[in-house]
Amino acid sequence: KKIVLAYSGGLDTSVILRWLQETYSCEVVTFTADIGQGEELEPARAKAELLGVKPGNIYIDDLREEFVRDFVFPMFRANTLYEGTYLLGTSIARPLIAKRQIEIANEVGADAVAHGATGKGNDQVRFELGYYALKPDIKVIAPWRQWDLNSRTRLLDYAEQHQIPIAKDKRGEAPYSTDANLLHISYEGKALEDPWVEPDEDMFTRSIAPEKAPDTPTYVEVEFKHGDAVAVDGVALSPAQVLTKLNELGGQNGIGRLDLVENRFVGMKSRGVYETPGGTILLAAHRGIESITLDRGAMHLKDDVMPRYAELIYNGFWFSPERLAIQALIDSTQQQVNGTVRLKLFKGQASVVGRKSPNSLYRLDYVTFEADSVYNQKDAEGFIKLNALRLRLGAMAKGS
Ligand code: ARG
Ligand code: SIN
Repeated sequence: KKIVLAYSGGLDTSVILRWLQETYSCEVVTFTADIGQGEELEPARAKAELLGVKPGNIYIDDLREEFVRDFVFPMFRANTLYEGTYLLGTSIARPLIAKRQIEIANEVGADAVAHGATGKGNDQVRFELGYYALKPDIKVIAPWRQWDLNSRTRLLDYAEQHQIPIAKDKRGEAPYSTDANLLHISYEGKALEDPWVEPDEDMFTRSIAPEKAPDTPTYVEVEFKHGDAVAVDGVALSPAQVLTKLNELGGQNGIGRLDLVENRFVGMKSRGVYETPGGTILLAAHRGIESITLDRGAMHLKDDVMPRYAELIYNGFWFSPERLAIQALIDSTQQQVNGTVRLKLFKGQASVVGRKSPNSLYRLDYVTFEADSVYNQKDAEGFIKLNALRLRLGAMAKGS
């Protein structure tokens, strides 16, 4: 009947648009989201119209606030990192796109959705798990798994034959495979496919090289309320504004570059390079405010479940019951996570140098190296002795 396509306006999804129209001879509805990728969206509208999509079938939505408020911030409450390093910049955006695509399918009475992810990657899984979780009987079309345009040359030939405009720079060498939003930009493919090769400096778009960053540090203050950043340098900002501001400061100071080899859900290893300037600052800041406001037991429990939570998001299970259960646990710890963190940004590093909170658990009267009147040092003797008991019994049994 009708297909809703996640449409970027780029060459690949334009070919997909035409291919869907030809293969299924039905109406295709395009959906283009602004999630802070930093591209104009009106060209996508013009291109969709050029390819015969009726104006009423073109959806263009600004989802930046929803993206940061309902996806990025909840994830950052958990200090989430996949495999110890990846801030999940692409992974966290996919459930939102899937959700909006299904909403549009319901609005226009479409029975199918389509996306431009390949059959080799994580994104296909994330989109489709989202679709099925929200609309169990939806039909999914993934052209990259179906058609025979599986080389760059054939794709370009198809575009030419079907009057799909090709940007001049697209004719020559294949570009990096990139994905961008307010949280990050990713680069994969090309020279990066050799994990021994360092990326060219001119690949990067969101950060200055750390060695070229200013010789004097930049200080920034981030204020938190219930675990979410609400102000930067004393100025109250919306979620998307916070991330935009931190991206700017991080980018200027060479913060947030990451070069890694990660394990894809489908089983292969993949080399990726990411820029996450604001997110890198936000993670350090959030850990900084938690360090004075979270109880040790709560903090360590969060840290225990975090890798599991990260894997759920990476693998596309945002709408699963177990992700929601972990989220409820994480969120329940954030009530007291209020206060301000001061960070020093300098040549690629974001270091916490100050923290304060109305809910601080930090007690100078207990921890001071000076004389105190609240803590009895003699209590520590029994504490250590009982903790040592099993170590001593074990050593005795070994005959020492
Ligand atoms: N490897 C990263 C991830 O799985 C980035 C994927 C980028 N996707 C893309 N379509 N270029 O999250
Ligand atoms: C893709 O295969 O479309 C991009 C890479 C990924 O999804 O992991």
